[in-house]
Amino acid sequence: MAARISQRAYNTMPSPTMWIQDLVSMLRRSGRDYYSLHVGQPGIPPPREIIDRLSRVLAERGGDISLYTYTSPRGVPELREAVAEDLASLGRVKPDPLGGVVITTGGIEGLFASVASVTDPGDPVGIVTPAYFHFYSILGLLGNRVVEISSYPDLFVTHDSWVDLFSKVRAVIVANPDNPTGRTLERDEARLLADLACDKKVYLIHDVAYSTLYYEASREWPENYCEDYVITVGTFSKDPGIPGWRLGFVASNEDLANAIAHAREATSYNAPVPSQILVLEYLRGRYREKFLPKVIEEYRSRRDILSKAIEELLQNARFIKPGAGIFIYADLSKYLKTSSDEWVRKIAVDSGVIAVPGTLFGSGGEKWVRFSFAWEPSERLWKAIEIIASRLKS
Ligand SMILES: Cc1ncc(COP(=O)(O)O)c(C=O)c1O
Repeated sequence: MAARISQRAYNTMPSPTMWIQDLVSMLRRSGRDYYSLHVGQPGIPPPREIIDRLSRVLAERGGDISLYTYTSPRGVPELREAVAEDLASLGRVKPDPLGGVVITTGGIEGLFASVASVTDPGDPVGIVTPAYFHFYSILGLLGNRVVEISSYPDLFVTHDSWVDLFSKVRAVIVANPDNPTGRTLERDEARLLADLACDKKVYLIHDVAYSTLYYEASREWPENYCEDYVITVGTFSKDPGIPGWRLGFVASNEDLANAIAHAREATSYNAPVPSQILVLEYLRGRYREKFLPKVIEEYRSRRDILSKAIEELLQNARFIKPGAGIFIYADLSKYLKTSSDEWVRKIAVDSGVIAVPGTLFGSGGEKWVRFSFAWEPSERLWKAIEIIASRLKS
């Protein structure tokens, strides 16, 4: 007999990236070379010095029981301080380090706790399509109603669409820079979202997972115009690049931070201690100052190569060269004769190039494909697009 699972669990299944993981496993098992343009995590490890530093700290404190105990569910105070300073250095109004910052077990937990803190089951939550697929899982698990507005085909949201969205929902989630489009908020738009949040008392959950990976775009903070209704959710998965070590944060006003801290106590209580030590050292020990500019330069040049390859080899593809983030989102409707899912499967199996179909990012993604430039070096990005182009033209 099939197990009876709850509607809530059903709403979050299956994980949209599962079948892509299956494709990757299949290619890995086959021993063939393959091109990982599907990956949403950095392919550059954190600096060696910071790992050495962490090893020393662990060795020195290894016999000390305090290394193994729970920390405050809000995170160690020094790390909250460091996060508050870091946000201020990136242009956000400085949150209160102890009252307004909560360290989380990754950005996903921060999103989860934020939505849980400002909505009840059934409450409508707005997102812009294409949207990061975990927004759907989180809203499904929490029992929220998803209200989508579309940014297709220009990947642009009009003033009226924003106004309309904020008048229909209790909260809005916006990724800035965005996954999958790489879009960033312009200053006027950040201002508009802040005004709508404050005027309509609708919470804006501002997901800044890629907040340090900027090339030409300017970094804008709706928080600076409406502190009470904007919640910042961040992660260290992309910088310094420790997605498996699960560390993120939320910053907000104190009342909200209290609620968010309680919500996350219910999920993982506190974030992993070694990760908190590592990131504290990374931010405070000036490791980032040396490391991040090199990473940005590398990603910028990969982005340039990938954009050039698409422009030259897939001239009928449409995309906007992103000024931040790690993805290019392309409209391949002039090429694809099948669905994006089918095409992604086929190009992976036949030619070993793995990308993510637009259908995983909510309604409207048919014939769109997301390419990541975080994993493969420039020459392999070029090669991957060459392979795609030759398949599409044959
Ligand atoms: C837009 C966006 N938000 C949040 C996250 C979640 O990050 P974490 O790994 O910290 O849970 C990601 C991860 O890819 C993301 O792309």
